[in-house]
Amino acid sequence: MVSVMPLLNWSGSKRRLVLSALLICAIILELACCQEHRTPPAKKPKPHKLKPAKSTPKGPRALAAKPKVKASPAGPVQTALTQVLNRGKFKKVGDTISVRSGDTLELRCRGKPVQWSVPALLEEDHDGRLKMTQHERYGVLTLVNSTGADTGEFTCFPMYCEDADCRREYDKAIKVFVFFPDPQELFVPSSDYYQVIQLRTNWPTVLPCQVTSPQAKVSLHRELPPGEVAVDGTDISFDVKKGFTINRPRPHHAGALFCVASLGNLRQSSTKYMLIYVHYPMAPPAPAVEASSSSVTVGENLRVSCTVVGEQDVAVEFSWEYPGQEIGRPLYTQESVSAVAGGALRQRSQSVLLVDEVREVDQGSYTCTALNLQGARSVSTTVTVLPRAKPKKKP
Ligand SMILES: *[C@@H]1O[C@H](CO)[C@@H](O)[C@H](O)[C@H]1NC(C)=O
Repeated sequence: MVSVMPLLNWSGSKRRLVLSALLICAIILELACCQEHRTPPAKKPKPHKLKPAKSTPKGPRALAAKPKVKASPAGPVQTALTQVLNRGKFKKVGDTISVRSGDTLELRCRGKPVQWSVPALLEEDHDGRLKMTQHERYGVLTLVNSTGADTGEFTCFPMYCEDADCRREYDKAIKVFVFFPDPQELFVPSSDYYQVIQLRTNWPTVLPCQVTSPQAKVSLHRELPPGEVAVDGTDISFDVKKGFTINRPRPHHAGALFCVASLGNLRQSSTKYMLIYVHYPMAPPAPAVEASSSSVTVGENLRVSCTVVGEQDVAVEFSWEYPGQEIGRPLYTQESVSAVAGGALRQRSQSVLLVDEVREVDQGSYTCTALNLQGARSVSTTVTVLPRAKPKKKP
């Protein structure tokens, strides 16, 4: 397919806008899809200054408990995470624990001081159910009136302090995944009726249907045609702490999917996931530019072509910068996409800049920029314009 279009300034920028919009969309979709397992509020990986005990703790929602003790020079502290049960019993936590929804979760983490991170939904909780306090040798996290929606990962970061400077010891962080089984809600509720998820070639995609109970039996279903999706553990796998992962997305995975959880007499469906497949390039394009001639005489025609050989079905956008641009010289481009002979999965995308009847102002550098969802690359070539040979005087 070949299209000819006038290369006006707005046209290039408009097309760039469209692609930027696409890129932004892609980013938004990615954010949407990854919200469930985004990094806990480790917002400051930098050394964290511990203020003297009187000052108010800074930072969003003050996840760091106000230390009751002044940090003293201390070597690496030994840490352990325990769950405080009723009647003052302690239990060392494993990978996961379950706390009946409605009950209180109390975690104690050795370290002076410690910081905590909590599931994203809980971090936004403002009704005062979550408390963090620091004692001399350990920190305590308390969550009262728990609900199934609190299900997720809780992490304790012991801090390493030198004088008043403390930093998180990431390698000593202790994580525990806490389920809050809720007899009414098998899934951690989502605020959206459906969620759009982008499936990119070669990028694992998570359908974050998080259950509140590790005992729930979870299956994956397609809306149209209705049916259960086979989960073989390789192409598609399930993790009770995460949901389903499509490990190698392919176009046939696209569509509307949802999870179904059953436990006892209860059977519930998750939010709907609208999976959109995007041919995602492995790398930015690698354009090559070539002028029909590196020196042309005034009045002749010039063609500058920019070619990208790349993966099939990956859209490439071209834009040009050329000497006559500033004075508004209207040039034309011809764009085409063709299959590469012999190479089954490759295609050639090309943009040809046409300069009719070259003038002196057309001398200089011609730059082609090729853009795909992975990024942009530019290449240039220089064209010299020669004056028209003076007509020989007739004798
Ligand atoms: C927890 O629930 C009880 C009973 O419903 C209520 O009185 C109390 O205020 C709640 N506490 C918090 C911190 O929300």
